[in-house]
Amino acid sequence: MAIREILTAPDERLRLVSEPVLTVDDELRRLMDDMLETMYAAPGIGLAAIQIGVPKRAIVMDLSGAEDDPDPRYFVNPEVVKSSEETTPYEEGCLSVPEYYEEVERPVHCTVKYLDYHGNPQILAAEGLLAVCIQHEIDHLEGVLFVDHISRLKRERILRKLKKEQKLAEVP
Ligand code: NI
Repeated sequence: MAIREILTAPDERLRLVSEPVLTVDDELRRLMDDMLETMYAAPGIGLAAIQIGVPKRAIVMDLSGAEDDPDPRYFVNPEVVKSSEETTPYEEGCLSVPEYYEEVERPVHCTVKYLDYHGNPQILAAEGLLAVCIQHEIDHLEGVLFVDHISRLKRERILRKLKKEQKLAEVP
């Protein structure tokens, strides 16, 4: 396993629409292992492949608390097949939008179909943080960031600041 570099906004690669995975093979599992290690090191609770520059429809997640045993989850080609009309706000953050947190309104419940680590089809009925996280990560596969769900004014301010910070970091 290896820790990979996480892309940060406004990197244009984060806007790519990721390609469906054709087969869940060892190569994909190696990618997901790297994603998980990268996510744990960050640390974060969810990561999409495009966040390490790979435009494939794969997500890793672990919502276990600091005191709990690790509970890694893998989602390949995830698709929301049903979502509740009822929505709720949650203060979201993202490893690709570091240090910024904003309330995003999303459906409370959603049902997601996907392939697991071994390529087996699964269905997940999610609510709470799991529902927030899986919807946030599936957005990444469409090139959408959580800041796209907030006001344009706030979004542009955040992206402008991130760009400025990156420029400062580039100075030798
Ligand atoms: Ni994110």
